[in-house]
Amino acid sequence: MSEFETSKRIPQQLAVPAEFRAECDRHRAEGRRIGFVPTMGFLHEGHLSLIRRARELADLVAVSIFVNPVQFGPAEDLERYPRDLPRDRDLCRGEGVELVFTPEVSQIYPYGYQTFVEVDRLSRGLCGDRRPGHFRGVATVVAKLFNIVGPCSAFFGEKDYQQLQVIRRMVCDLHIPVEVVACATLREADGLAMSSRNGYLQGAERSSATCLYRALLAIRERSLGAETLFAREAIAIATDIIEAEPGTRIDYIEVRDAQSLEPRDRVGEGKTVVALAVFVGRTRLIDNMVI
Ligand code: PAF
Repeated sequence: MSEFETSKRIPQQLAVPAEFRAECDRHRAEGRRIGFVPTMGFLHEGHLSLIRRARELADLVAVSIFVNPVQFGPAEDLERYPRDLPRDRDLCRGEGVELVFTPEVSQIYPYGYQTFVEVDRLSRGLCGDRRPGHFRGVATVVAKLFNIVGPCSAFFGEKDYQQLQVIRRMVCDLHIPVEVVACATLREADGLAMSSRNGYLQGAERSSATCLYRALLAIRERSLGAETLFAREAIAIATDIIEAEPGTRIDYIEVRDAQSLEPRDRVGEGKTVVALAVFVGRTRLIDNMVI
């Protein structure tokens, strides 16, 4: 067994970008394909499923843990965003992650920083309109992380559907040599999509939060039964289910083309995605279903 194989259960944690890049270079020079899972920490089963997929497809798994301030708007919950680095490190160790990158904000955005990546049309609409600058922040940090890590493949959850399309487009447009691997949304037993934000849900909000998935299932069921299901009918179905739950407020429910994210009048006109964002109490949750 090589030194690499025997030591692979102890993740190496580095915070300095140049040091992390040097370590990744070393592994690449020895012929290892790096699978990369970018995260903002507070890891849950959803993240672990990305890590497991990376483990299957790559020789070595690198995880970044970085709460990216640039993707939070001024009125958003940056300070409130949950963090637990020791626990995240333990979880990474349990999954056999080899490299963990934990930079400080000042290392990613040093004084004088002024370069940003914008993916134009895909960043508009849906969460892009509600969270101005969000996808600019995501595209920027992911491009930077790709440059530091140099992975063969990178793993993203389908729950953040618009994010996934934005990153795919960016990789293609900027000729970044990374395979973007989409991983299915992981759900709790009652259907709630796993998210770090679920931890904010208090008391009855937790059961109310299942209305997002129930709304999507109801639309899918109706679309399978109906010859044509118009977007406005689908939105009405979802609205009824969500508004029946106390403490919810719909941010958006939309039917879009699954790839271009252009609006669609009918569910299942080509491949469509039904995407929604709903406040449950103060917590904003998103979910989607491709139909
Ligand atoms: O999905 C996330 O957790 C973040 O948006 C990402 C991709 C790690 C960029 O900060």
